[in-house]
This record gives sequence, C-alpha cells and structure tokens, in this order.
Amino acid sequence: MNKLIKKSESIRGEISIPGDKSISIRSVIFGSIAEGDTIITHLGTGGDIQSAVRCLKQLGVSFEEKNDSIIIHGKGLYGLSKPSTVIDVGNSGTTIRLLTGVLAGQKFKSTITGDNSIQNRPMKRITNPLKLMGAEIKGESDDNCAPLIIVGKKLTAIKYVSPIASAQVKSSIMLASLYADGITQILEPYKSRDHSERMLAYMGGNVAVNGNNISIEGGQKLKGREIFIPGDLSSAAFFIAGALIVDNSEILLKDVGVNPTRTGIIDVLKRMGANIYMQNMREINNEPVADILVKSSELKGIEISGETIPRVIDEIPILSIVASVSEGETIIKDAGELRVKETDRIKAVVTNLKRLGADVKELSDGIIINGPNKLKGAELESFGDHRIALAFSIAGLNAEGSTIIKDAEWADISFPGFFDLLF
Ligand code: S3P
Repeated sequence: MNKLIKKSESIRGEISIPGDKSISIRSVIFGSIAEGDTIITHLGTGGDIQSAVRCLKQLGVSFEEKNDSIIIHGKGLYGLSKPSTVIDVGNSGTTIRLLTGVLAGQKFKSTITGDNSIQNRPMKRITNPLKLMGAEIKGESDDNCAPLIIVGKKLTAIKYVSPIASAQVKSSIMLASLYADGITQILEPYKSRDHSERMLAYMGGNVAVNGNNISIEGGQKLKGREIFIPGDLSSAAFFIAGALIVDNSEILLKDVGVNPTRTGIIDVLKRMGANIYMQNMREINNEPVADILVKSSELKGIEISGETIPRVIDEIPILSIVASVSEGETIIKDAGELRVKETDRIKAVVTNLKRLGADVKELSDGIIINGPNKLKGAELESFGDHRIALAFSIAGLNAEGSTIIKDAEWADISFPGFFDLLF
C-alpha cells in the first residue's frame, strides 16, 4: 500500500497513543508464566504484540477478552505445553529473544523462528549467555540465526558481563534465570530499558538493581496482577516530532509511558530547543506515566552519543528527520546497533533523507546531518521497517509538495491506526 502525504499547515488536538510495545510483550510473556490471572488493559494491538500472543497460545496459554481487557490465564513457570508446530514470532525481535530465555528452561524441545528480517538478525547475543547457563540451543550460521532449536534444560545461574546495552538480551537472561539454580547477575555497559525489572517486581518477584547491574534469584514464582499498559513513547515520538516541525502546531498526548530509560527522546529534543512539557506525572503499576504537551519550535542541531544512545535507540530515525530541518549540525554516533534492527536503519534513514534533498552523511555507527534543509516531497521506501514508514510519513508533513511512502502497511507492526490519527 502506498500512502500519499502532503505538506501540513498545522497539527493540533489531544490524542491517545496505543499501548507500549515493550511493556505489552512483557505483560503477555510474564503473565503466561505467572500463577493466576493477569488482567491487561490498553494492551497494544500492533503486529508484534499479536505475534507474541499467538506464540504463547502455541504454548498452551489461554487468553480471554472481557470488556476492555485481556485476561491471561497464567500457567506458572512449568505449565507451558510442548508446541505441536514451529513457534513463529513474525517480525518481533523482542518476542524471539525473550521467549527463547523461557523456552531454554522448559521440560520440552521447541523450535522458534520468524520472518525474513528476524532470520537475519543476530541471536548469538542471547544464545551465548543462555548456553553459558547450560541451555541447549542450535541455530543457523553457527547458532547466530533463527530458526533456533531449543532443548529445554534445568539451567544454572551465571554472572554475565554483557558487551552491549540491550534490554532484549538482559530480559532473555532474566527470564532464563527463573529456571536456574542460584543467583544470576547481569552487568551492562550502559543501562538499557528496565521494564522487565519493574514488571517482575510488580508481579511479586525480587530483582536487586544497582546502577547498570542486576541480580535475580532462580525459582521465583510470579503472581498474576492487573496491568495498565501506558501509551508507547516510541510511537508518541512521531506526533511529538510532527508538532515540533510543522508550524502552528500544539498537541497533547495523554497517558504516555515516561520511564527514564526511555525518555532520551524528550531530553534530546529539549536540548535542541523543543517546547515539550510533561504534565500529570504519576506511577501506574510501577511505570511512570504522564501527559505530554508539545508546541512548534525553532530547533538547533546537537551531538547524540554514548549512554544517551540506548535511551533513544528506537527514535533515531525520527530524530534524524527533526535534525534535518533544525539549524546547524547534528552528529549521531555510537549507534552501530541501528544496523541490526528490523532493517539497517542508518542506511534507510540516509537513503530517504537524501531523496528528500537533505544534506546527510553516513558514518559506520551513525549519521551526520547539516541543517536546516528545505525538504522536497519524494517517493520513499519503508525498507520493511515500521519505524522507517512512520518516521518518513512525518517528514512528508514538512516537505514541499507530495511524499509517497511505499509499503506503508509496515506501520501496523507497532502503530496500527497511525494514518487515521494523522489525517
Ligand atoms: C526492546 C529493546 C531494544 C529496542 C526494541 C525493543 C525491548 O532492543 O530497540 O525495539 O522491548 O526490550 P535491544 O535490546 O536490541 O537494544
């Protein structure tokens, strides 16, 4: 499906953003291995979350829709059943990496895979530590790629110094550690998003957090609970950016998750001069939530690097677009992880920004953008990546004339209903 986007005069209004993808997928997985019912409201409806639900159904978990909630009938740590077919995560990296941690500790054998993109994404980052815990996992390309064949085993605790700040790696090991004897320790170079730590504690588990290090004891049972999923800040980021770069705009985004491990986007945009105000700050089931008010702003380029990167990793495509219409130079570096996302996001962003006429340079681990550019409408690729389709739809609002986003349906992976909200 091609989407035609025209330059916009203004973006105004109050909107509600679908439930956070990271928290939704965790609620589905944690709820399935908890004891008793987990009642989830505002669960995201994107393709990745539907994939997670489908995988847990393959493992014998039942889900019930009641009023506005989804009830998961938890099976406990050892209640999942052997799947009769290959588990298919679709496009969801979070699902394959977290669920592999769970499957490593089961009493059965299973095979897990996903779409073309998933089969090309690196899995050694989880198979290595899981194997150190005693897991038996075989995969393509020297155990680096899905399909992964997992023979469930009793695991043992490890101390793991992770070479990368990745919440998917950390959460995969955390889930496996529930099936391990002893106390597992995970040390990260920088702090990655901590939704798993928060949800585990909320469901009655014990995780000791000390800066970038966590420890977690094996055998802990989780208790099903009520969970409200806040709006996804990574999805809100598209509307925040849109309001900033389209003149005469003002929007209020209600009930958005503002966990400090995710708010790099707000900090970076504020450093660039953005008018963004957090209101009505509160905590809902251990996650900070706020309403976010955004007004059109004059922005300037900055450097984004180091420990900011994991806090803003999913927002770099949209940030690059904002930078392209901001005054001066923006340097994004230390972001080599972008090359192993749903697509190579450095290449995708540079290709599309060049087509829009922006002054942009590709680095091995980042992008340099010189602004301000007067963007000109063009035909752009989605590269099979939801965040590229979403980000460049927003760029189209600022570009002269018409922009066409090819294969725009990829947006549904994280943000179904995006185009209805936009138009
Ligand atoms: C996620 C962690 C991040 C992020 C991804 C979701 C998660 O990936 O990019 O969209 O839910 O844990 P990495 O762990 O690979 O950094």
